[in-house]
Amino acid sequence: MSPQQRRPRRLRANAAIRDLVAETHLATSDLIAPLFVKQDADGPIPIVSLPGIFQHSIDSFCKEAERLSALGIRGFMIFGVPNEKDPFGSQGYAPDGITQQAIAALKASLGESAVVMADLCLDEFTDHGHCGVLNSRGRVDNDATVELYCEMAIAQANAGVDFVAPSGMMDGQVGAIRDALDGQGFIDVGILAYSAKYASAFYGPFRDAVGVQIVGGGDRKGYQQDFRNAREALLEVDLDVAEGADMVMVKPASSYLDIIAAVKPRLTIPLAAYQVSGEYAMVKAADAAGYVDGRAIAIEQLTAIKRAGADLILSYFSHELAGTI
Ligand code: PBG
Repeated sequence: MSPQQRRPRRLRANAAIRDLVAETHLATSDLIAPLFVKQDADGPIPIVSLPGIFQHSIDSFCKEAERLSALGIRGFMIFGVPNEKDPFGSQGYAPDGITQQAIAALKASLGESAVVMADLCLDEFTDHGHCGVLNSRGRVDNDATVELYCEMAIAQANAGVDFVAPSGMMDGQVGAIRDALDGQGFIDVGILAYSAKYASAFYGPFRDAVGVQIVGGGDRKGYQQDFRNAREALLEVDLDVAEGADMVMVKPASSYLDIIAAVKPRLTIPLAAYQVSGEYAMVKAADAAGYVDGRAIAIEQLTAIKRAGADLILSYFSHELAGTI
């Protein structure tokens, strides 16, 4: 047969044949919904830069999670927004801290039908806004921070979390958290490691959502990855797998499809990707301006993230796409 006789368009002729040969299928059950819970909120407070996303009260958070669960969402990622912050982020590991309250409430309402995950990081809880505690030179102290992450993991486990999700990019955090959990008998609590997390401008709206600012205008480049690099993502993933992660994550997603694709073949555990706040906000803003069809773009981007190799996707679009894809 000559190459001219090959006609790839036969497989695109109509929707039926396209569906039959489609390689990638996006489903509601692929999505994990991020949810913000604010201490002492009376009801849902809109987040201006994230249209359709709210800082919830415990009550409205449970209602939203129940609505999503009925539509087929299985995973929920909780971000607590405390009233009080201090240099050590102590509300992050207080037994009655807001994240712990939210975990317990969600477990009580949805039980085994929900996979309850919680962000495990100190930036929402520290008054200086860094992801850990600072040493005398004002730099994040890796090992002292990891000790507090272990306390946080225990507090979240006591509240009933299914998976803790360490996102602070401290060296050795996954292994230390695994040991701490096992040491307290929490052998069934899993770890979704934010393994390859880049220092990214795409996190901008998230910092509104959780009310976090780095005092003095600093950044997180001293611990989050440099976006000029790909190979260090492989090192981070390999270490987290060796330290006992049950799932690993690449973050952000759309500008990091090469990283997702490079990580995937190294893994025998699930790979998650996080389509972060800035990725969502840009689509919503362009949609509101009438420049693009936001829903179509969301589906195209999420499908691309899955095609690149993600098994699970954290996305703010979960809230509007659940049950419709
Ligand atoms: C850290 C954390 C951040 C995000 C998730 N976990 C912020 C950061 O690292 O600065 C960002 C998520 C998003 O932008 O949607 N607690």
